[in-house]
Amino acid sequence: MKIVKVKDYQEMSEWASKQVIDKIKASDQFVLGLATGSTPEGLYQNLIDAYKEQEVSFKNVITFNLDEYIGLGADNPNSYRYFMDEKLFNHIDIDPKHAHLPNGVATDIEQECKDYEALIKETGEIDLQILGLGVNGHIGFNEPGTSFSSRTQMTDLVEATIEANSRFFDHKEDVPTQAITMGIKSIMESNEIILLASGENKAEAVKQLVEGEVTEDFPASVLQKHPQVTIVIDEAAASLLK
Ligand code: F6R
Repeated sequence: MKIVKVKDYQEMSEWASKQVIDKIKASDQFVLGLATGSTPEGLYQNLIDAYKEQEVSFKNVITFNLDEYIGLGADNPNSYRYFMDEKLFNHIDIDPKHAHLPNGVATDIEQECKDYEALIKETGEIDLQILGLGVNGHIGFNEPGTSFSSRTQMTDLVEATIEANSRFFDHKEDVPTQAITMGIKSIMESNEIILLASGENKAEAVKQLVEGEVTEDFPASVLQKHPQVTIVIDEAAASLLK
């Protein structure tokens, strides 16, 4: 596990966007795994800026997002599809057919999970997966207790996640209680992983991720077993590390 310590959110986003841009440029076809939430927003803005400055093109990029709320469609401003369109896809030259998220309003959610997993397999491996970190150690929406052998599946969100994500909604009761998420095993099959964490409220989780035991009770700890993972943390998020 490589650890990159940076000063602040801006440096974290710059570091990550440079990696993503360099890797896209060095490859004929690039499969990029993406996350939503506050953490990668700066990274996405930097990618948009680089595209506008003609530094990079996304024509040969295929993306797979980690997760989506069940019950929220593309036109719902709280859906992750809407978030990704707004924060990235609408502003770059990616082929919309290549920008994949699970469909949270599929009539058969179980089938949707299987199809999403199969689509990743058909496309080949994810070259680089970007991850954020839940305060409870979740990655994607794999909550504490999720099996390390899990594949894309439907999951119940725990109270800590609903509470943390309620900041995006008008009322806490509006936060969906279920989601589709790529599984831990699906994530671990990515060739490379970059996890981003910024701010004091992530410090405890970062400590457990880096220094704690590998356990399904803290899903992100599985990353200690991945051969090519980089944790990019700012000073505040690193503040509890030995
Ligand atoms: C969302 C996702 C989640 C978030 C995590 C941190 O697609 O995968 O695991 O990365 O909840 O969220 P933020 O970045 O908002 O602190």
